[in-house]
Amino acid sequence: MPSDSSKFPLQDQIAVVTGAGRGIGKSISLKLSELGAHIVLCGRSREALDETAAEITKLVGETGSKSSGSTVTECDVTNLGSVEALAKKIETGFQRLDILVNNAGIAGEAGPLLKLSPESWNEVFNTNLRGVYYCIRSLAPVMIKAGGGHIINISSLAGKNPVPNLSAYSASKWGLNGLSYSVAEELRPQNVRVSVICPGSVYTDFSPHAGKSTEKMLQASDVAHAVAMLVTQAPQSFMSEILMRPTQKP
Ligand SMILES: NC(=O)c1ccc[n+]([C@@H]2O[C@H](COP(=O)([O-])OP(=O)(O)OC[C@H]3O[C@@H](n4cnc5c(N)ncnc54)[C@H](OP(=O)(O)O)[C@@H]3O)[C@@H](O)[C@H]2O)c1
Repeated sequence: MPSDSSKFPLQDQIAVVTGAGRGIGKSISLKLSELGAHIVLCGRSREALDETAAEITKLVGETGSKSSGSTVTECDVTNLGSVEALAKKIETGFQRLDILVNNAGIAGEAGPLLKLSPESWNEVFNTNLRGVYYCIRSLAPVMIKAGGGHIINISSLAGKNPVPNLSAYSASKWGLNGLSYSVAEELRPQNVRVSVICPGSVYTDFSPHAGKSTEKMLQASDVAHAVAMLVTQAPQSFMSEILMRPTQKP
């Protein structure tokens, strides 16, 4: 019989997941709670977060996970005040933060760059890049104070390749990769590992998948599995980047 510490390696750990109400963020939240962590679920829609929280309660009951469940916190990552309030809540309520998953993101308007409105450009960058900066700025100090932790940024293969008609999205994810590699070097001495995951298309509500076989596509649970791998590494090991593709082209 495996011991509780090997079955629930994240027991007593606190994890923040942004965009936890649906899609990849929801799947990551369920996976981390299955491994024993308490999850702080963040997003703008309270109703969606409450649904994830209810699924976590059910999962913990079914699996006997040592997770103490979840806490729902409405938070808009584009708003520094909102992110700072989240950090304060975590510092006061838990006095520690072990895992931060910066997952919240939007695709923005599809179409040629020359037709893209500046408002749409701002919305994409404020969510996908500035939002991550705000979360790291506000939450990494809580981690450092408690001795270290793991930050995982959900980027995309769109941050490695050109993506015509989704230029702002692609540029925001190239930026996110640069931010991730750079801040990783800054935080390594403080015992904080910053990793970035770049999945190809994942079957969620995020974007239409016309003509693709949804079963062959990457699933949200595949990204959650990659997150689980990162946060269960031995302390001396640092996997800085994961690129994910479907085994067969969908
Ligand atoms: N699906 C794909 O094909 C794919 C591929 C590669 C990478 N990714 C990346 O994976 C991440 C998750 O994508 P997904 O497919 O799960 O998308 P999704 O189903 O559309 O979910 C996006 C999540 O982000 C949250 N969110 C959006 N803006 C926010 C804000 N300002 N503040 C807080 N939360 C916000 C949404 O919640 P609220 O609207 O309630 O706030 C929602 O929970 C994104 O960063 C995306 O770029 C996706």
